[in-house]
Amino acid sequence: MKALVFDVYGTLFDVSSLVEVCRDLLPQPEAFVASWRAKQLDYTFWRSLIGRYADFWQVTEEALSYVLKREGLSLSPGGRRRLLEAWLHLQPFPEVRTALASLPHCKRVVLSNGSPMMLSTLLTSAGLQKEFDTVLSVDTVRIYKPAPRVYELALQHIGGAREEIGFLSANGFDVVGAKTFGFTVYWVNRSGAVLDDLGVAPDATVRSLEEVAPLVQ
Ligand code: LAC
Repeated sequence: MKALVFDVYGTLFDVSSLVEVCRDLLPQPEAFVASWRAKQLDYTFWRSLIGRYADFWQVTEEALSYVLKREGLSLSPGGRRRLLEAWLHLQPFPEVRTALASLPHCKRVVLSNGSPMMLSTLLTSAGLQKEFDTVLSVDTVRIYKPAPRVYELALQHIGGAREEIGFLSANGFDVVGAKTFGFTVYWVNRSGAVLDDLGVAPDATVRSLEEVAPLVQ
């Protein structure tokens, strides 16, 4: 492999770590976080299709407002800020540090929907910034995954043949986008999810990042 490219939210970092912050502020925190994440992703898809890009911080805030409204919940400005800022301090999945240490020494790139501010704060706060050679944000191309232009951004940065780029993601739409583009894709399927029926399959499915190292040696 010429390079390994990593997705961020749901792959390196556990979005459900937002639940702890929600617990103090809202009823049914697990369900709330799941709805917030789903709406956040919906908005990325919709904005990409209608050609109205707004960065991931704005999308995340708009999704929060919508879900609060829909559920008839209200939050103080301080509570809202705490919830949003929790995206900057998510927990990495437990195996991430050891798995990164065991991966071969090729170029490592982050490719994420996150805005540059969100990604740099998150990686720095987790002490993971130094693990990656480059952090690429969709903000450069102003369209979200799984648009081919996003994967093209990584290819342009790395160079070489598409299949020499190993792509790791837990998100089904990202797996389908990266594989359709031509990367070698490892689906990090921690929860045992069912593969979506789009006629596109990853090259390999793993249950944790630790299982990737033997596959890319
Ligand atoms: C990301 C989204 C897919 O990190 O969670 O790009």
